[in-house]
Parts: sequence; C-alpha cells; structure tokens
Amino acid sequence: MSSIERDVVIIGAGASGLTAATDLKKAGLTVAVLEARDRVGGRLWTNDIDGATLEIGGQWVSPDQDALIETLDGLGLETYSRYREGINVYLGEGGERRTFEGEIFPVAPTTEREIVSLIDRLDALVAEIDPDRPWDHPQAKELDEISFRRWLETQTEDEEARRNIGMFIAGAMLTKPAHAFSALQALLMAASAGSFSHLVDADFILDKRVKGGLQQVPILLAERLGDDVFLNAPVRTLRWSDEGVTAIADGVEVRARRVILAVPPVLISRISYEPPLPRRQQQMHQHLSMGFVIKVHAVYETPFWREDGLSGTAFSPYELVHEAYDNSYHGDPRGTLVGFVSDEAADDVFRQSPEERKARILESLSHYYGEKALSPVVYYESDWGSEEWTRGAYAASFDMGGLARYGSDLRAPVGPVHFSCSDMAGRGYQHVDGAIRVGHETADAIIASLAPAGAASAS
Ligand code: FDA
Repeated sequence: MSSIERDVVIIGAGASGLTAATDLKKAGLTVAVLEARDRVGGRLWTNDIDGATLEIGGQWVSPDQDALIETLDGLGLETYSRYREGINVYLGEGGERRTFEGEIFPVAPTTEREIVSLIDRLDALVAEIDPDRPWDHPQAKELDEISFRRWLETQTEDEEARRNIGMFIAGAMLTKPAHAFSALQALLMAASAGSFSHLVDADFILDKRVKGGLQQVPILLAERLGDDVFLNAPVRTLRWSDEGVTAIADGVEVRARRVILAVPPVLISRISYEPPLPRRQQQMHQHLSMGFVIKVHAVYETPFWREDGLSGTAFSPYELVHEAYDNSYHGDPRGTLVGFVSDEAADDVFRQSPEERKARILESLSHYYGEKALSPVVYYESDWGSEEWTRGAYAASFDMGGLARYGSDLRAPVGPVHFSCSDMAGRGYQHVDGAIRVGHETADAIIASLAPAGAASAS
C-alpha cells in the first residue's frame, strides 16, 4: 500500500471528477484521482465491439450545453451532426406505421391539440423553475407530492397524448415509470435542458456527436493529469475531520485537506465513513435511485433506411423500443441504429434469455424500419444495471417528495467532504454538461476555501 499526500483527493474519474481535478491543479493545488475501474470515464465509454466503434454510454451534445462545448473546444475535439435527413416514423397503438416530419407525431387531430397544449403548459411551468433551485418554486411541495403520471391525468383525458408526453420524460430521460417520480422532478428534467420543448425536439437534444467518441473527454483530461490518476483503486474507507481526510483505496492511501466524492449518489454509501456522514446525508442519499434503460446498438452493412427516405428517427409509446435513431459512426460506411428499452420494459426483457431478448428487440426495430432491421452484422446491448460502479442508466433521481425535501442539501459540502456528479446538477442535470458544470463549481468552492485571499479561480 503506497501512502501519499495531496491538497485534494478526488474519488471517481468520470467527467465531473476529472474536470474538478483539472481546475484544482490549474489553480496550483495538488490532486490525486482514485478510480475504481481499470479505465477512466465512468458513464462515458467508447468501445470497439466486433469491429464497430460504439458509444456504450453517453454520446450526444446539444447546442445549449456550453460547459461541455467549452471543454470539447479546449481539448481540440471535433463534433459531427447526427444524420437526420428524410422522414421519421411513428407507430400508433395498433402498430399502424405513420411517417412524419417535424416534432409533432402524426396522431389524430384531437390528440395533436392535446399534445401541443400540454407542451405549452409544461413550457410555462418550466419557465418558472430555476433548475439550480427547483425546491424554491412556490408550488414545489405540491408538485413533488404528485406523480408525473397522475399529474398528466389531471391535465388531459387523452391517453395517447399522456403516453407521448410521458415518454419524453419517463422513457427518454429519467428512465423510470411515470408513476415513480414526481411532477417536480419532471419539471427539473425539462428546466435543466432549457425548456420542455427542447426535450421533444430530437434535433436539438440529440444534435451532435464527438469524432473519436465522447470518452475522449475523460481520456484527454486524465492524460493531462498523468500520474495523479490511479486506476483499479476503489475507495473503501474515508476518514474525515475538520483537519482533513484520508481516503483508503485498494493499493493506495491518500491524505488530503479536502475530498470530492465524484461518484453517482447510489454509490456514496458503498464507502465506509469514519465517523459516519451526518444524519441528513445518510437519509438523503437513500432517496435517490438510478433509472434503468438498455441502449441497443445494431450495425448493418449499409444504412438501408436512408434508401427508403427515412431519417432513422422513430418513436412509439407502444413499442418495446420506444425511440430509435440513425447512429452511424463518423467515417464508417456501415449504418448503425441505436434504440432504447426503458424501465419496466427493460426489466421484462432481462427476464428472457439473451437470444429471446435480442429477437424481441430486433423485431421491435423491424416495426419501424422493415425486415432488414432483423439482420444486423453487429448487435450489442449496453447494460449499465450490471455495472458494479454505476448500477443503472442514465442517472439518478429522487423518489416521490425527495426533491423538495432534500434537494437544497444535495450539493452542500460536509466539512472537508464535497460532492460532484451529473446526478446533482441543475443545468445539464443527468448529462455530461451537468457533470462538468458541477465539477467546475466544486473546484471553485474548494479553491476559494484553500487559496490565499485574492487568488483567482481556475475555471
Ligand atoms: P460517472 O458515473 O461517469 O463517474 C463516476 C466515477 O466514479 C466512475 O468512473 C466510477 O467507476 C467511479 N467510482 C464509483 N465509486 C467509486 C469508488 N468507491 N472509488 C473510486 N471510484 C469510484 N449524457 C449526455 O450528455 N449525452 C448523452 O447522450 C448521454 N447518454 C447516456 C447513455 C447512457 C447509456 C448512459 C449510461 C449515460 C448517458 N448520459 C448521457 C449520461 C452521462 O453519461 C452521465 O451523466 C455522465 O457521464 C456522468 O458523469 P459523472 O462524472 O457525474 O459520473
């Protein structure tokens, strides 16, 4: 066991922890980043699967994500647009296939009116929410006591409108059933992306990808930190007091003045604390849980759907794969589709054998794109629920009532212990942009508390 001393020890080499470490080092502080896995990046993981470059975790960048865009620019990373030429596909309740352009699905005129009106109402409510302080909204408590599903039922009797609006937040973002999170949590999700309209606009929210993969961000940040990043070093114990901390990981022990827990909230209690974290944190972290979604990648010899005039963008609140896109990798002449199977549907297919699951998922894709979708040359399911150091996808959210009850304490440090991850972000919540944003804020707070008066922040 080697024993070292630093100003700040960072637990977790995801986008958030590495951003904070980079800022701290720029400000002249010494750091050590302890990472449990044998790679950096956490929920960012670009991998070669059977000869295809796949984004196992996060991948898309939207134009409002300025913290992420600034990082990409700083690292010299280039982006490219998601393929979106042509028409989109929507499947109705009976499986009827309809094509459309724009954002509003081809549904009956009455349902369309309900959808448009619901989007307007949600946009108006979201405009009243500060994503960094949703608990300050005058109706925060009431909105946190009603499930999003129930709230939608109070707004419209049109089941198809409810399902579609629910899908944008439940299946596509929080990846929990709409009865399992509150209306306030749903509003935070939308406010963190600027508006509800942004979430329904795939061309906005899923705009660009990074050449070489989004994991380039943590990889390049870690490269610059060099020997200060320790892999295969899960932190098991954290001793803390007003004097400082000792983080004890496999193979290395770091004494420091401050610590940043840059891990998803569900993994905070995996570490033993001496003394225990205060009552508030011990309680609060139990009320946050990970959503769950399977990201399915299917690579074909050619992007055959483009020949049929299809963009690759497809939705249905009635399908196993509720949304799918053309996800062809930059420079690869083959065509890749990515689809998502969320929450209870994901539970359902994980009860089946891998072969049965693959057959059902491809069958669902074929409903959108035709028979050719049944025969990919590469097929892969990102299963973050089985990842010991993540335990779900995409990120964590509060249970009913948790956001109004605990939210204001989520990012507050406890003595020398600071918290940083995308799951705790306001703007950019659940996204890489939020991970980076909170990383900068956490570093700034530590720099201000450690640096001599008048010293400048690094970010
Ligand atoms: P992250 O979880 O990445 O990092 C935490 C690190 O801590 C991990 O490396 C973990 O191994 C480590 N760790 C945990 N416990 C430890 C311990 N005890 N000791 C040491 N290390 C420990 N976002 C986006 O912007 N666009 C997108 O398209 C998507 N899509 C998407 C798809 C999928 C399938 C997933 C899973 C996620 C996304 N996301 C996304 C979300 C995005 O990937 C995510 O919000 C950020 O990468 C999270 O970064 P953090 O640094 O906050 O946590």
